[in-house]
Amino acid sequence: MADDRKIDEFSGVETTGHNWDGIEELDNPMPKWWINIFYATVIWGFIYMMFYPAYPLISSYTKGFLETSERTELAIELEAVKSSRAIFVAKLDAATLEEVRNDTDLFNFALAGGRSAFSVNCSQCHGSGAQGSFGYPNLNDDEWLWGGEIEQISYSITHGARNTDDDDALLSDMPAFLRDEILSADEIKDVANHVLKISSQEHDQAAAARGTVLFEENCAACHGEDGSGLSDMGAPALNNGIWLYSGNLDTIVETVSNSRAGVMPAWGGKLDSATIKQLAIYVHSLGGGQ
Ligand code: HEC
Ligand code: HEC
Repeated sequence: MADDRKIDEFSGVETTGHNWDGIEELDNPMPKWWINIFYATVIWGFIYMMFYPAYPLISSYTKGFLETSERTELAIELEAVKSSRAIFVAKLDAATLEEVRNDTDLFNFALAGGRSAFSVNCSQCHGSGAQGSFGYPNLNDDEWLWGGEIEQISYSITHGARNTDDDDALLSDMPAFLRDEILSADEIKDVANHVLKISSQEHDQAAAARGTVLFEENCAACHGEDGSGLSDMGAPALNNGIWLYSGNLDTIVETVSNSRAGVMPAWGGKLDSATIKQLAIYVHSLGGGQ
């Protein structure tokens, strides 16, 4: 090959001696700037290896003079986050709900914690946006079964309703008016028409008129004279168009005939008090808090 090297007649530069169908290659030296950068990266590589973890050994690796790594840095950062969290959790534990609401940092911390605790523990029943579904109350609106003040919400979460594991669970049982033979099927139709009337829906006027007295006698004690609900009884308003079990005639007849008795678990034994506070604050903040 070396035999084929020659001086190119146009540029005066020696060729490499390679020849492809008459095309030849000049043997120009590599540019200075390129060589310099190449050496600089090699030197940089050595310096980096001296200071940072770089080279695998049999059961470990070279640690470098700085003895640092992103893994240890992450651990330090996590430790810092954890200890600042611990401070907040301790503060939260000590504060009353009212005090938390007046402390912006603590409040925001509680809100974020409440949101994530909600998606873990509550969303399977109340929906990921707390919007509720058939039989599971929407927690975003201003309609409350058991009251929307923050202490009431906290109580609902801590003790739940109609469950068997908490002696202080909220309790109020709407009778099953047909099954318990308190009202006849016709009377239930009448009182259901009264409910349609007070919720401003289409109704049979004669039936609703008959149902009005039945409502006063059988329902008003829990749902209120005008049907606006009583949170002491866990009885929802029937006159505002917001329904737990939907408000058409058939569903109302079914509710009154057999009652529903929705069960909300008690969280007092399952979640710590700081988490329950966070949840109460989160739920209260959803827009319907009183
Ligand atoms: C197994 C289903 C279920 C789970 C899980 C659940 N709930 Fe409930 N929750 C209910 C039902 C049903 C009711 C309505 C009870 C009733 O009819 O009185 C309710 C009622 C409530 C109420 C009272 C609403 C009102 O209008 O007064 C609050 C507040 C509440 N839940 C918050 C929570 C929070 C916070 C969690 C998570 C820690 C949670 N719930 C988890 C089923 C559930
Ligand atoms: C002892 C109290 C009590 C009495 C009396 C009572 N209710 Fe209720 N009612 C409740 C409670 C508590 C609920 C909440 C639903 C549940 O059990 O989960 C409810 C729910 C309802 C609902 C469902 C509302 C919705 O949002 O879907 C209707 C409709 C209703 N009651 C109608 C009546 C009528 C009509 C009467 C009278 C014939 C009556 N109730 C008597 C306590 C009562």
